[in-house]
Amino acid sequence: MSARTLAGSTGAAQATVLGIGAYRPARVVPNAELVDAIDSSDEWIQQRSGIRTRRFAGPEESVQMMSVAAAREALAHAGIDAGQVDGVIVATVSHMMQTPAIAPAIAHELGCDQPVAFDISAACAGFCHGVGLAADMVRGGSAHHVLVIGVERLTDILDRSDRGTAFIFADGAGAVVVGPSDTPGIGPVVWGSDGEQFDYIRQTQDWRDVMTSDSPTMPALTMQGAAVFRWASFAMAKVGLEALDRAGVTVDDLDCFVPHQANMRITDAMARSMKLPASVRIARDVADQGNTSAASVPLALHRMVQEGDARSGDLALLIAFGAGLAYAAQVVVVP
Ligand code: UT7
Repeated sequence: MSARTLAGSTGAAQATVLGIGAYRPARVVPNAELVDAIDSSDEWIQQRSGIRTRRFAGPEESVQMMSVAAAREALAHAGIDAGQVDGVIVATVSHMMQTPAIAPAIAHELGCDQPVAFDISAACAGFCHGVGLAADMVRGGSAHHVLVIGVERLTDILDRSDRGTAFIFADGAGAVVVGPSDTPGIGPVVWGSDGEQFDYIRQTQDWRDVMTSDSPTMPALTMQGAAVFRWASFAMAKVGLEALDRAGVTVDDLDCFVPHQANMRITDAMARSMKLPASVRIARDVADQGNTSAASVPLALHRMVQEGDARSGDLALLIAFGAGLAYAAQVVVVP
């Protein structure tokens, strides 16, 4: 045994969200545009999901372009220069290169100076995983200012003829800057996964199957919607309550509830199970934005901030869940 000891690393006393930004693609797509291909109706989609319109990205609205736009707004809101950012975490499942990750390219375009930059693959839960990681990095001393970006161009992997997904998924990007603070601005993360249900939301084929197929087709997202619906509506309320408990607050202290924008009925079921008081303002971005997977929580919080439903200093419960089945939740102070 060596008698030598290593220097430990220590970071900021606490971590907080310093700023938020978003990018919504220009093209608004109403239900009417999708229903013929899936033998559906505007009425059915609104009733079963709460979605009226969503945004689909155009050719120029790439994963990188949307990420940079959202990140620039978050940096400006935080009053932080790109040069001060020493960590960039990108949560996405729709960066179409297996390697390298998109985070270093985004960091470079933003003008960051050689930050640690990597992607995480936790699907719809990815943004809240990123916030949890970033807070630990700031408190642990491995970074000072971390950009967390949730971004998706799900239309690249969407089967427009699949009744279970074609009307749900959409495109966009949201970002926050996580940095040091004296008081806690990000509560303890509650996260986990249920791998027994690993294949409930997945890519239709893996790349080897595609490459060895006689008639290769682009893999698409597929989902056992009703099973995911049941899991999300019941199991996730417990995770949300645990995040409140770990943060030392109750539903009565909460100002905003910002769940993953999967389906308005899931949001309502969670709010009922958690017995949220009527005073808690609930994110309902899914109605006009669809389900943007890793981008949905920051987009939803951003809209609440813009519309005055979330004010600086408010307490917001973030919770995200999806393929894996992976989930993560934390209480944050709104920047
Ligand atoms: O982001 C990751 C996490 N994702 C989620 O949390 C999504 C969770 N799931 C959902 O949001 C819902 O399951 C959906 C919105 C995808 C589907 O709603 P549902 O109420 O679970 O529908 P269902 O699949 O149970 O189907 C109910 C009925 C069926 O008809 P019958 O058998 O009752 O006659 C389906 O054939 O609705 C029919 N149906 C449709 N009808 C019109 C299924 N899809 C459609 C459609 N349009 N697109």
